[in-house]
Amino acid sequence: MGGTRQQILAMMIEKGDDFVSGEEISRKLGLSRTAVWKHIEELRREGYQIEARQRSGYRLVCIPDRILQEEITRNLSTRSFGRALRTLKTVDSTQMVAHQWAQEGAPEGAAVISEEQTAGRGRLGRSWHSPPGSGIWMSLILRPPIPIARAPQLTLMASVGITRALQRETCLPVRIKWPNDLLIRDKKVCGILTELRGEQDRVHYVVLGAGINVNIGVEAWPPDLREKVTSLSTEAGRTFRRSPLIAAILEELEKIYEQYLHQGFSTIRKEWERLSGILGRPVTARNPDGEMTGIARGLNEDGALLLETEGGLTPVYSAEISAG
Ligand code: BTN
Repeated sequence: MGGTRQQILAMMIEKGDDFVSGEEISRKLGLSRTAVWKHIEELRREGYQIEARQRSGYRLVCIPDRILQEEITRNLSTRSFGRALRTLKTVDSTQMVAHQWAQEGAPEGAAVISEEQTAGRGRLGRSWHSPPGSGIWMSLILRPPIPIARAPQLTLMASVGITRALQRETCLPVRIKWPNDLLIRDKKVCGILTELRGEQDRVHYVVLGAGINVNIGVEAWPPDLREKVTSLSTEAGRTFRRSPLIAAILEELEKIYEQYLHQGFSTIRKEWERLSGILGRPVTARNPDGEMTGIARGLNEDGALLLETEGGLTPVYSAEISAG
């Protein structure tokens, strides 16, 4: 969208339910009243519903669900998360853009969000289905002063933050499945991918990627995924605007990240256990070394999943978990 239209939009968003006068727009942006009218018409063609009243001016009635920087930052209460923000229409993977940006010196909390990913990355070399206009495909840059060995705790921390945000905004029963999935009624609604660059004992930066299925209908999934995944809209029976959801996620992530840095992992661990959907349930953990079945009992200080097996409590550091 052109810069002038962005500015007109920002002025209308700023006014909320009130009107912004054509005179104010033309004065602030140095445009003729006819030019303002033409931009308003163009915005309408792009799907924005704008009410025009003769003596009052223009009022934004409905915004198409695009990820808009203004809408995200308008009421954002974070200190740093999302303050530096790149919103893209399409990209191979937001992870790649974030890595590049981090290497160029992006500040902590910088975020990359795209409407679509053509090569979205999942864990274990899998791809991540990221259709346009219907999900939140986001990568956040962190620079935590922690040793590399503690980095897995960041995935668990992020699970708690995103769960809180989704519960707060949707009231849906979101639960955490170790290590990086968020589920609703046992189907995956969000995946988290933590990638880091560091040397020896020092983390240079972390790219925390989150893929959240927001407004994706059942029929839009490839057949092999339909049984395993879901979206917020499928579960709630209504669609959600993504920008306020993104703002809520950034806020909850910043809150929990600060808690993690100041109070350590143990308080996060308790919250994780409260939100986990697998504790007390029999699960099987599979990794290249084999498989182990036991009852999920909690996390240890490193963030490993504790399985109660015949041999006692066993920590699992890396595995795919399934029920039973
Ligand atoms: C998983 O469950 O396997 C993790 C999926 C992570 C997907 C997100 S979408 C935004 C970011 N960009 C990517 O390419 N991947 C992550």
